[in-house]
Amino acid sequence: MIYLDHAATSWPKPPEVLAAMTDFLVHSGGSPGRSAHRLSLQAARPLYAARESIAAFLHAPHPLRVLFAANATQALNLALYGLLRPGDRVVTTAMEHNAVMRPLRDLERQGVQVVVVPCAPDGSLDPEDMRRAAVPGTRLLVANHASNVTGTLLPIAELGAIAREVDALFLVDSAQTAGLMPLDMDGMAIDLLAFTGHKALLGPPGTGGLVLGTRLDPAQLRPLIRGGTGSRSEQEEQPEDLPDKFESGTPNGAGIAGLMAGVQTVQHRGLETIRAHEIRLTTLLIEGLQAIPGVRLYGPRDPRARTSTVSFTVDTLRVSEVAWRLDEAYGVLCRVGLHCAPAAHRTLGTFPEGTVRFAAGFTTTEEEIASAIRAVREIAR
Ligand SMILES: Cc1ncc(COP(=O)(O)O)c(C=O)c1O
Repeated sequence: MIYLDHAATSWPKPPEVLAAMTDFLVHSGGSPGRSAHRLSLQAARPLYAARESIAAFLHAPHPLRVLFAANATQALNLALYGLLRPGDRVVTTAMEHNAVMRPLRDLERQGVQVVVVPCAPDGSLDPEDMRRAAVPGTRLLVANHASNVTGTLLPIAELGAIAREVDALFLVDSAQTAGLMPLDMDGMAIDLLAFTGHKALLGPPGTGGLVLGTRLDPAQLRPLIRGGTGSRSEQEEQPEDLPDKFESGTPNGAGIAGLMAGVQTVQHRGLETIRAHEIRLTTLLIEGLQAIPGVRLYGPRDPRARTSTVSFTVDTLRVSEVAWRLDEAYGVLCRVGLHCAPAAHRTLGTFPEGTVRFAAGFTTTEEEIASAIRAVREIAR
């Protein structure tokens, strides 16, 4: 089996992640922040340690500004529904995932003005187009760091600077890059950073979060849900303290312990090593696939302008057929269709059929890439 679906979720998880989750369930099984007994205290420690390591990893201002969520989708919903009010103007890109687009289209019906800046057919964005759209009075800029369809990297630091010029807030969807690319909230002028735990951060499903930068006043952000936090239990109103205001209900302790082990694994491997491996695999994939007659590639050809997520189509076959044959006959597991990002496919010209998507990870080998390319060559023939 050749697993090329790391952009959906990374697999297999490092043994350290499994060990941390088991350890949490066996030794720290209390409810964190609720009771005062030893198992409850023991359960709270890994949660705070995870906040600390994620804050350091993402250059966040403070561990208490790391708000855990079930995934990037929940984190993005918290940011968008928490901030935007009728009459606000929000500017985003034509390469966004539905985790951004669907909340925005719903908010549009409630009176939020949504402006979508077009991207080039390879998914790239000219920052000048964003500058023209981000007129004074804009409340929020939203952009992904890398597309989940083509891997195209967006110029995040430049977009952050544009947001500052008009005093707008800047929300980044790092679902495809946290754990692959350096992220520096201060250096890139990011005010809200949504991340997911189960992709390149190597954690389990059910983990992710929203990190608040220094410019974001948490009082401006409404929580998505309200409920028990284990703090200020005398109040029937939601507390304002961080992170409790945004983390009602018993947290996913085992998942967060696993996420922290995933982040440590990434740090141990080193982002430079991970990126160099990705660039090597992307180069092989691009060279191999574009040499096959009838195969059409999408996204930038320069591996430094993208992640290792590579989308393609085969002229004479439906994408679903290609993916089915890859799985059935060659054991190559990939993703096919619209990848929850119809806007991106309209940009590429691949709507509504979509593409076949290969997404390598750190554990993917050059031999596996060569086998996958061979399989596509045979199928296309
Ligand atoms: C760009 C992008 N944003 C958001 C998401 C949603 O992430 P999650 O599944 O963690 O909610 C994904 C997942 O594929 C994604 O690729």
